[in-house]
Amino acid sequence: MNTLEFANGDSMPALGLGTWKSKPGEVFGAILSAINIGYRHIDCAPIYGNEKEIGEALKKCFDDKIVKREEVWITSKLWNDQHHQEEVVPALKNTLQDLQLEYLDLFLIHWPVVVKKGLYRPGSADGFISLKELPIGDTWMGMETALEKSLARHIGVSNFSVKKLEALVAGAKVKPEMNQIEMHPYLSQPEMVSFCNKNSIHLTAYSPLGSFDRSPKVKRMDEPVLMNDSILSAIAEEHGCTAAQVLIAWAMKRGTAVIPKSVSPERLKQNFEATHVSLTATNMEEINTLNKHYRYIDGSFWTPEGSPYTIANLWDE
Ligand code: A2P
Repeated sequence: MNTLEFANGDSMPALGLGTWKSKPGEVFGAILSAINIGYRHIDCAPIYGNEKEIGEALKKCFDDKIVKREEVWITSKLWNDQHHQEEVVPALKNTLQDLQLEYLDLFLIHWPVVVKKGLYRPGSADGFISLKELPIGDTWMGMETALEKSLARHIGVSNFSVKKLEALVAGAKVKPEMNQIEMHPYLSQPEMVSFCNKNSIHLTAYSPLGSFDRSPKVKRMDEPVLMNDSILSAIAEEHGCTAAQVLIAWAMKRGTAVIPKSVSPERLKQNFEATHVSLTATNMEEINTLNKHYRYIDGSFWTPEGSPYTIANLWDE
């Protein structure tokens, strides 16, 4: 299994299990299957609404001695309504309680977006707080405290642009070690990859399969279906594997972590076996031609009329 190496010597398995959209009732079985198959990296977030059930599944895996806590890399995230510096550690403690863990391997700021307490996706402008009123630097100091208290071994961000990363790196005592972003061949983000390589920031690719199972509320009906791409299908045929496996192998060959979501034991196994798919340089070049800077998760849910957030200032592009 490929790993991503951290400055303190820790290793993160490049392939992890995504749990966004894994419903309560399904996620317990998915975690058990995944751990039994060999997954040693689970990506979580409180906003996914399933951390308690993931915690039960992890506890069973530890109690049954299938795996030890220190053998599994567990990531979770800070939701947008807890960005005040003093809210960060209590938010992390809640997540730890739900996951039944003493510490996280990695804790991320989920979005560079702030919403009022208790809100998920405000439907109107008055549910938002701007980054001028509550700067990311304040939230980051809370993240640094989480690290000092050893509640998280590493800290980072998610959905950050190069511009926001630059600003954070310039002002931070502890630099972010990860940016988790949407990344797949239709959104390969070469500038981000190059910036992060230069600044020793790792990348994790979310929605690597195109997140076809998103709710209709955050999905365009005419969107391109990544897994049906004819170039990916041809490469899959060449290797005797599936398009999903090509997508996972591509992400790992670029040196990023990748967190495909599945709740099906067969597909969990298939995705795990993508670690054996060895793409050629020609395959990589062919896949790189597919980039069209297409976001499945475009962040438009943060931009109702009058919101301080716009598509332009969210992605800085
Ligand atoms: P399921 O959970 O039923 O397996 P993403 O990781 O980009 O968010 O994509 C997740 C979607 O892709 C889910 O609908 C998931 O369904 C599906 N999926 C996961 N692995 C595979 C696979 N190997 N082949 C086809 N679909 C997959």
